[in-house]
Amino acid sequence: MSDERACLTRTFLSPAMRRANLLVGAWMQEAGLGVREDAFGNLIGRIEADQPGAKTLILGSHLDTVRDAGRFDGALGVLLPIIVLRRLRREGVRLPFAVEVVGFSEEEGVRFSSAYLGSKGYAGALRAADLALRDENGISIRECLRKRSGRRGAWKPPGRAHSPRQLLGYFEVHIEQGPVLEEHRLACGVVSGIAGQTRAKVEFAGRAGHAGTTPMALRHDALAGAAEFIVISEMLAKMRPPLVATVGRIAVRPGAANVIAGGAELSLDIRHPGDGDRREALRMLRSAADRVAHKRGLKVSFQVIQDNPSVGCSPELTELLVECVHSRQGKSLLLPSGAGHDGVVLSSLAPVAMLFVRCRGGVSHHPEEQVAKGDLAASIAIVGDFLNRLAVRRAK
Ligand code: HGY
Ligand code: MN
Ligand code: MN
Repeated sequence: MSDERACLTRTFLSPAMRRANLLVGAWMQEAGLGVREDAFGNLIGRIEADQPGAKTLILGSHLDTVRDAGRFDGALGVLLPIIVLRRLRREGVRLPFAVEVVGFSEEEGVRFSSAYLGSKGYAGALRAADLALRDENGISIRECLRKRSGRRGAWKPPGRAHSPRQLLGYFEVHIEQGPVLEEHRLACGVVSGIAGQTRAKVEFAGRAGHAGTTPMALRHDALAGAAEFIVISEMLAKMRPPLVATVGRIAVRPGAANVIAGGAELSLDIRHPGDGDRREALRMLRSAADRVAHKRGLKVSFQVIQDNPSVGCSPELTELLVECVHSRQGKSLLLPSGAGHDGVVLSSLAPVAMLFVRCRGGVSHHPEEQVAKGDLAASIAIVGDFLNRLAVRRAK
């Protein structure tokens, strides 16, 4: 299911996302889950417990993708729990807690440059500033969701799907998107925590001009300023590992070969396991942008679009997951996640645990993303063990 013919791209509320929700929703139904879509386009499958008032364990990940994506980032964490629940159903296993499998509608932040919109909606964490964000066609999230609701008048997002006291936890299975499990020859690993991330929009404004008649000394070239800023961001990150800084997108105005760029808008993504280090890097890059602009006679705006703190995983659920991984593969490795995940948002509602699955060469956000069949089988077994052991623990 893709919005693009030549590659895999599935973005917030797009036709491909609707088709994906229909297909995955059918698989959920086959596995015995009751299926619905919420107001944010999240796909939700649920199995009730026999005991009334039982708590809920949420399993899930995101069904949206980056542009020209791989097939496993996100989707693995939605489909794998469906397989495990279908297997438990065949074995006649009834869990003493309700289970909800969620395919979040927007985690990557492609359409609106802000990540986790689906899980924020589900967790009641969408703010007015989020709803005001506009896509490249100028459509705001609020307008998008109001139209989807079919409401004519003002629309306001419904509250969170659950209150914390109703939840046992949130458990996400995800490809590692890095090389560590491969280096340790392990199929699966357990996530200790998720790095914080900041996303910003940096705009340099100069003066467009004729490429042939404007002497270099008289130019106010916005693209040259943006280029200098990009190299500074890269240098700063290289000097302060494990800080990472990425400019993934740039838009240039007017964008003609023989015109000096009058405007350049770039995305900036900064991550670090330590929130203080990440914020210090943000401060340094903000002042670097000002220095570049001043030196080149440009104007610069530096707008933070999103700032997510790093999140630790739940010690109790993580310890249970380590037991399951250890008993299946003889050893378990605890590793941090440099990538962001919906668990960052769900941690406001429930304790979080994450299982990483090895992916070939650590490649991700790329069509060559690949997971070996044996590693899929191992992760399915581990998730089944986790549910059964959690059930035993709950029964005590
Ligand atoms: O960008 C990330 O870290 C994740 O893939 N959304
Ligand atoms: Mn991703
Ligand atoms: Mn992901």
